[in-house]
Amino acid sequence: LKVDASPQLARQIPDTLFGIFFEEINHAGAGFEAGGPHTPSNIDPWSIIGDDSSIFVATDRTSCFSRNTVALRMEVLCDNCPAGGVGIYNPGFWGMNIEDGKTYNLVMYVKSPETVELTVSLTSSDGSQNLASTTIPVSGASNWTKLEQKLVAQGTNRTSRLQITTNKKGVVWFDQVSLMPADTYKGHGFRTELISMMLDLKPRFLRFPGGCFVEGEWLRNAFRWRESIGPWEERPGHFGDVWHYWTDDGLGYYEFLQLSEDLGAAPIWVFNNGISHNDEVDTAAIAPFVKDVLDSLEFARGSADSTWGSVRAAMGHPEPFPVKYVAIGNEDCGKKFYRGNYLKFYNAIREAYPDIQMISNCDASSSPLDHPADLYDFHVYTDSKTLFSMKNTFDRSSRNGPKAFVSEYAVWRSDAGRGSLLASLAEAAFLTGLEKNSDVVQMASYAPLFVNNNDQTWNPDAIVFNSWQQYGTPSYWMQTLFGESSGAIFHPVTITSSYSGSLAASAITWQDSENSFLRIINFGSDPVSLTISATGLQARVNALGSTATVLTSSNVMDENSFSNPNKQSRCKSRLFLTLSPHSILRLPSPNSWQRCEAA
Ligand code: AHR
Repeated sequence: LKVDASPQLARQIPDTLFGIFFEEINHAGAGFEAGGPHTPSNIDPWSIIGDDSSIFVATDRTSCFSRNTVALRMEVLCDNCPAGGVGIYNPGFWGMNIEDGKTYNLVMYVKSPETVELTVSLTSSDGSQNLASTTIPVSGASNWTKLEQKLVAQGTNRTSRLQITTNKKGVVWFDQVSLMPADTYKGHGFRTELISMMLDLKPRFLRFPGGCFVEGEWLRNAFRWRESIGPWEERPGHFGDVWHYWTDDGLGYYEFLQLSEDLGAAPIWVFNNGISHNDEVDTAAIAPFVKDVLDSLEFARGSADSTWGSVRAAMGHPEPFPVKYVAIGNEDCGKKFYRGNYLKFYNAIREAYPDIQMISNCDASSSPLDHPADLYDFHVYTDSKTLFSMKNTFDRSSRNGPKAFVSEYAVWRSDAGRGSLLASLAEAAFLTGLEKNSDVVQMASYAPLFVNNNDQTWNPDAIVFNSWQQYGTPSYWMQTLFGESSGAIFHPVTITSSYSGSLAASAITWQDSENSFLRIINFGSDPVSLTISATGLQARVNALGSTATVLTSSNVMDENSFSNPNKQSRCKSRLFLTLSPHSILRLPSPNSWQRCEAA
């Protein structure tokens, strides 16, 4: 294996090469509320404590929030209620992780014509273990009151529920009940462990919020940014009909922009272009959609005294968010009105924001586009052999015209399992091809990023979590071996071996640093011995002193799990130049190789 680091062959990789794509899929981000205005008699996810003779619970449309009018009405029927009272409980999504000593912030809106005392508790899933409890007096009034209460847990339970009970006969209404841990990342609502897994990928961009989530099966159920900003209580939420669940849009347009800032990643806003899976807006009638998107850009980028910038400022972010990329729809290239609608959005955005880079849904990897674009989307979900061979896909692409945004790639179906080593090997090889072609490939992200283990609609995914645990699939760990490539210097690698058909490799260095990395992927089932040489790099590889990072396992279909989260995660190993079957090797660790002044 030869690395040629001579200056004339060195090339700067775009700063943006590797990032993440966060879609609201698999209950990746949705919280607490289910149901919504279209199923008003369904109290799900609330359940009742008590029986028919002691309590009657239903919903009605008396909420104080005009865009989400459904409230929960609880009528206590008993004069002598059972000990502990009657009431309602909510398990969050598949149980909440309540941890000893931690503080939880409860917010709820309540209306009770008569004075009543509510007992608010965090308990185990069957109510038998009490983790935190307090009583809240509610004065009788005809208006809604916002109540806020801190609850400090005195015990740990991973599948807890929130319950609200009383002994007093009468009627109480509830709406927008929220329970959040006090220690979310920067107070912005995200679990710190999940944020640090994202940070470890060194993402240079964050594409959001979909995916199909942006499109909807029907336009009426598409993501609407306007409905996802402002106070969370006032957001109507919507039914995400592609992934089949209600989202309260608490993770809305603003929160995605804030998340990109927290991650130090460039935001990439994928907006609905008037097209869903099953219906489309005629280009002749697309003007309001275009106006809506221009408003979204003013919300992100406008000054704090502009119409929409002032809404952002009121939410706590007077400084603009630096939106420099937008995608005009998702996977809509073949649709009847795509080109017509696209051009309307393209021209309006170009005029208002000349610096914004626009991403077309049409693939230009093998033939030119028939419309202007700065970048084009490229999505690939395939088997591992095909993806491995696709490391050469962009070799043949035109060097002129828009650059590729490989905004979704993954091995899926039979050889992916729920995230197998085999899948990650093919993906790693594919990424070496993107690095090699990073003169025409500007960005790439794996998909999907997250899955709540209780709702795996899409398989496989990079990060699996439940209420309290998380682990990375091999595809996640594979990505951590490539994060440092964004902005680095690429050097060509050639492999001369009878095994070269199952090998892939890439090499990078850093401009002002001694660090360099060589990654080698052995996709085959034989061990391979390699002699490694480098032109332009001062090898300081020392078999005794150096280490490599290896991703491998004894079985190519091995997966990580909650009980064995590191089955194929990275490990440091003594440097060896025999490549195990089915492995990714990154070598050496920092400072083992040194850039030379002269080739
Ligand atoms: O990543 C899952 C889905 O795959 C995305 O929503 C969509 O863009 C693609 O079809």
